[in-house]
This record gives sequence, C-alpha cells and structure tokens, in this order.
Amino acid sequence: MGADYYKTKESVKKYIELAKDVSGAKLIEELKKYLPAKSELLEIGSGPGTDWKILNTTYHVTGSDNSKEFLNHLNKTIPNEKFLELDASTLKVDNSFDGIYSNKVLHHLKDGELANSVKRQYEILKPEGIICHSFWKGEGSEYFKGMFVNYHKKDDLKRMFKGYFEILLIITYQEFEEGDSLLLIGKRK
Ligand SMILES: C[S@@+](CC[C@H](N)C(=O)[O-])C[C@H]1O[C@@H](n2cnc3c(N)ncnc32)[C@H](O)[C@@H]1O
Repeated sequence: MGADYYKTKESVKKYIELAKDVSGAKLIEELKKYLPAKSELLEIGSGPGTDWKILNTTYHVTGSDNSKEFLNHLNKTIPNEKFLELDASTLKVDNSFDGIYSNKVLHHLKDGELANSVKRQYEILKPEGIICHSFWKGEGSEYFKGMFVNYHKKDDLKRMFKGYFEILLIITYQEFEEGDSLLLIGKRK
C-alpha cells in the first residue's frame, strides 16, 4: 500500500490508457451464477470504472477505491453516483451488502491485511452473502513499480478464506498469460 503508482494524476491517466481494453466481463459472468440480479454489491478498488459499468447493468453497485485520483476520475466520468473512499484492508463502511467484488485489487494486501479484509468482508456481508475476487497466481511477493504485489496459490487462498466463507469456486484463468490468475467465489458462512 502507499504506492504512488495509483496515487498521482499522471500514473492514474497512464493506467487507465493501458487498461482500456481489459475488463472483468468473464468474471462477472461467473459471479452472476451465484449472486442474483438487483443485489446490493460493493466493488473494492473500482479504479478506471470499467467493471463498475458492467456490474451496474445487473446489480445496485457501490463503487470504491483507496486512491483519491481514481475517485476523482470515477466521480468525473460517472456523475450522479457516490463512490466511497475505502481501503480494502479495513473496509470502514456501515452499510451491509449481498455481495463484494474485486478484480486484481486484493493482491496489494500483505497476508495480515488480507486476513483482516476477509474478516471485515464477513462482517459487512448479509447472511449467505457472496464474494468474488481475482488474484495474480504465483508464489511469494515483490514490489513492482513501487507497489506491493502478493502472489497466491489456490491452497493459500482457501486457507485464508475458509474460516468465514464456504468456497464455491476457485479456478485458474488467463489474464495475459496462460494460468496467470485465480478467481475465487465464496459464500458467507
Ligand atoms: C490493478 S487496479 C484494478 C482496477 C479495476 N478493478 C480493474 O480491473 O481495472 C487496482 C485498483 O485497486 C486500488 N487499490 C489498491 N490498493 C487498494 C487498497 N488497499 N484498498 C482499496 N483499493 C486499492 C487501486 O487504486 C486501483 O484502482
């Protein structure tokens, strides 16, 4: 956390340009198998807003990010919607939700922060609420462009989530290279 990459006007502009052809459309199709339409959904790390727009065609979505620059961008490009300033590790929000979604966000959390996030997700979800998160697959962690990146394997994600969530789906998929990503869908216990 605390990485400048998502925090300056220039780098946010660059990220939005680089990510313009990338979306979580396929992940959202998986989510739809488990979370009914019109559910109240929290998105963590909405970033450019690409997935928010897709999610919003099916759900009542509350978008959020911990970067003021991304929030400025979201407020400017999607007016009349309220985006929350939320950190994934603490999720300081009073509302409760039917579902929580993130696409390539939670890998920025260290193991202890992810453990706290999982507990907070349990607390802000309604009974039997659904989570849907993607991660980079691999081992260990590194700093990439000053950002902390935590790689995960299926087993460590299962271990992290299983205290609070029943794992409904955990699959490997391709973002850029074969087998580089993991999708986890779970149900609040
Ligand atoms: C790789 S981008 C993904 C954005 C979007 N989900 C997408 O798929 O285009 C990561 C996003 O997560 C946000 N982010 C990083 N760490 C975060 C944290 N601890 N809490 C909330 N958002 C965070 C960044 O500001 C950025 O918008």
